[in-house]
Amino acid sequence: MTSWSTSLATLYYGILADAVDWRSFTSGPVVDLGGGNGHVAIDLATRFPSLEFIVQDLLPNESAFKATVPPEPVSRVTYQVQDAFNPQPEDLEPSAYFLKAVFHDWPDIACIQILKILVSKMLKFGSTVIMMDQCLQEGKFPLYFEGVIRHSDIFMFSLFGAKERTLPEWEAMFATAHSRLRLEKAVQPSGSESAVMQFAIT
Ligand SMILES: C[S@@+](CC[C@H](N)C(=O)[O-])C[C@H]1O[C@@H](n2cnc3c(N)ncnc32)[C@H](O)[C@@H]1O
Repeated sequence: MTSWSTSLATLYYGILADAVDWRSFTSGPVVDLGGGNGHVAIDLATRFPSLEFIVQDLLPNESAFKATVPPEPVSRVTYQVQDAFNPQPEDLEPSAYFLKAVFHDWPDIACIQILKILVSKMLKFGSTVIMMDQCLQEGKFPLYFEGVIRHSDIFMFSLFGAKERTLPEWEAMFATAHSRLRLEKAVQPSGSESAVMQFAIT
């Protein structure tokens, strides 16, 4: 993961920044759930100075990466040790949850469990869920990307009993977590096998 987050992942920063109207998420922090060492949150905080981020992860990842980044934007990025399967902190009023390369590590049943926890905040605070993850576009994709995702699908299944998903599969999974949880926007940037998807309670 360290090698990935310091090399390939940087390619995604610009794609992600352009795919979402980040400036609209000022009513509360954006929570980067499963955010690892916080490299994405720190990049977004650098680009969008009006935003605050909370990086939640099972493992305390704070010190090593943060120490390499200037104080601004680091002051707007805080860290919480949080298990995604546990209730979210009561005093947290998030404008959005952001999950990058998290759900593809888990089978539907586990993702739905996580989503149901987020739904309670979405209902209360109107929070959005933004996700950047692999999204198989059958027949519409350069064969290279289809190969990458199908390979990853087998890899995820062998390691975690998880899988890669098509857009209708993502939508169905979210709708199972809550009947009013709908896809608002999906961006499939050219040059990326990962899509950026935005879900809200309608
Ligand atoms: C594939 S990494 C993605 C990291 C980061 N979002 C990125 O794109 O660079 C998955 C992350 O989920 C975290 N994770 C795994 N199980 C978790 C759990 N139960 N609760 C919270 N985070 C978890 C891992 O520690 C890891 O940082």
